[in-house]
Amino acid sequence: MEVVIATPEELAALAADAIQSLLAVKPGAVLGLATGSSPLGIYDELARRYAAGQVSFARARGFMLDEYVGLAADHPERYRNVIEHEIASRVDFAPDAVQGPDGLADDLVAACARYEAAIVEAGGVDLQILGIGSDGHVGFNEPGSSLASRTRIKTLTEQTRTDNARFFDGDIDQVPRHCLTQGLATIMSARHIVLIATGRAKAEAIHHLVEGSVSALWPATILQHHPHVSVLLDPAAASRLQLADYFRSTYAAKPAWQGL
Ligand code: F6R
Repeated sequence: MEVVIATPEELAALAADAIQSLLAVKPGAVLGLATGSSPLGIYDELARRYAAGQVSFARARGFMLDEYVGLAADHPERYRNVIEHEIASRVDFAPDAVQGPDGLADDLVAACARYEAAIVEAGGVDLQILGIGSDGHVGFNEPGSSLASRTRIKTLTEQTRTDNARFFDGDIDQVPRHCLTQGLATIMSARHIVLIATGRAKAEAIHHLVEGSVSALWPATILQHHPHVSVLLDPAAASRLQLADYFRSTYAAKPAWQGL
């Protein structure tokens, strides 16, 4: 696990560099796309680079991490619509190249199985962008999630619904209770995971992710078992790391050619 502590702008540029380099050698790469606030700087940077002719997504594919259950097809907070708005429509993904779990399916269990199969059929995710919840979730794998889980229906914690109420006029009652999410094992199947976190509200979850024991209580800790994880933090999110100075000096000494 590599930990980089830098400004949000530098972190977004680093993640965009990793995606741009990947697409340069593998134009048909499969990208894992997170929603929420954390990846927005990365998406802005990718849209800027696309407009400048530096990167193309024409042959790439995208798989979303998760989706609310039951939000109307045209609801602005339905994750399919959020991803369309924040990244897919701003670059040159082919129509239907970005998929998400179907939170409106009549048979949600079958929809989850279909989603897992679609990821496998696409060859698996090459680079997964992740955020992290203040309760340590990745995707919507809330505390107590099986470390071996696959895409399935989950119930959101009160903490997550409170955190996400800001997207629903500050009204927790408008935040759906259920979601479909890639499981922890699904996320772990990605070849490279780039997790970005900013702000003090994430500091405890980041402390557990990087320095805690692997436990379903802090689901993101499963990433300690992944061979290629880049954890991108601003100083506030890194503020509870015992090893922060070590991470800073390691990154300062890293050769520029190495990338994430
Ligand atoms: C979003 C997702 C969630 C968020 C997490 C952090 O697709 O899977 O795990 O990444 O809730 O959300 P933000 O970035 O809004 O703080």
